[in-house]
Amino acid sequence: MAKDKKYSAVITGVGMYVPDKILDNAFFEKIVDTNDEWIRTRTGIRERRLLENGATSDLAAKAAQDLLKNKNISADEIDVIIVATVTPDMFFPATACLVQEKIGAKNAWGFDLSAACSGFLFAFQTGCSLVESGSYKKVMVIGADKMSSITDYTDRNNCILFGDAAAAVLIEPTEETNLGLQDSLLRIDGSGKNSLYMSGGGSLNPPTHETVDKKMHYIFQDGKAVFKVAVKGMADISYDIMQKNKLTSDDIAYLVPHQANLRIIDATAERMGLSKEKVMINIDKYGNTTAATIPLCLVEYYRDGKIKKGDKLILAAFGAGYTWGASYLVWAI
Ligand code: UT7
Repeated sequence: MAKDKKYSAVITGVGMYVPDKILDNAFFEKIVDTNDEWIRTRTGIRERRLLENGATSDLAAKAAQDLLKNKNISADEIDVIIVATVTPDMFFPATACLVQEKIGAKNAWGFDLSAACSGFLFAFQTGCSLVESGSYKKVMVIGADKMSSITDYTDRNNCILFGDAAAAVLIEPTEETNLGLQDSLLRIDGSGKNSLYMSGGGSLNPPTHETVDKKMHYIFQDGKAVFKVAVKGMADISYDIMQKNKLTSDDIAYLVPHQANLRIIDATAERMGLSKEKVMINIDKYGNTTAATIPLCLVEYYRDGKIKKGDKLILAAFGAGYTWGASYLVWAI
């Protein structure tokens, strides 16, 4: 990343939306062979949210509206909308178009970005680049997933993990280049394609009765295989970005990790030498909301007054693809 840039891209506003309906671990005890203790100790999850009516664009639009209201700006000021999601309302049009219409952002262009659990990191890098170039002044990046729409509620391996949510950030330029996104290390590796996927409905396996009968429109995850690479992938890249930017654990205010499994998060924090208080956690309340986990943490901790201007944050994720990465961000509001 160019260090001599004229503009830095900073987060200047945040918003979030989680549906009201809560699915606690007791709910899953009733529908599959599982128990609260297993779920808590293996994953860290106690509850997750379910959107009963509506689609990903509804979650995303509500998060966007929360941001606009709190920032006290009008939707027509937004230049670009990027929606990170693996549960778009439809293949096309893009969810970004549906969000644009729902919030009335009449001067915006935008698109969806598919990078599963790393979606927010990839979309954030993309949005920041548009701002750093000087081309755009207000870019909204939204991580949104209605994971319940692709979850098989008879599969105990997976159904306990996921939840529905959306969260949004507004990115704007500043000449204070010591604030905002400082660096990113982002990676993809398609050899992970057989461990975490949804194989039905796309051009490889267009929908047929057979694809539906074989439950190919649900998430498949080889949990153990993904766990091993996720632990190493997220911990290594988080450590690497610290080294590259000469950051010690004392310099870092928070690790903002993708919330897939508390044990993966703990391993990453340990590798970085961070104490528990320096790790943002809300997996207990929302489970794995895919593209929404990282911005959801940012919004909650910011609104609780736990992040302040100048705080150095490391955002880190690992997900399907494989996709993974870490970003070094200095909080600006
Ligand atoms: O977000 C994108 C990337 N995804 C991830 O990072 C997720 C990575 N994987 C994981 O987080 C973990 O692998 C899981 C939480 C999915 C599973 O935890 P685990 O410790 O790897 O469990 P396991 O798959 O090795 O299963 C251990 C045992 C098995 O029984 P046996 O074979 O030892 O008799 C499972 O059948 O636990 C059983 N099991 C369950 N038991 C009760 C699996 N799911 C459940 C369940 N309740 N819900």
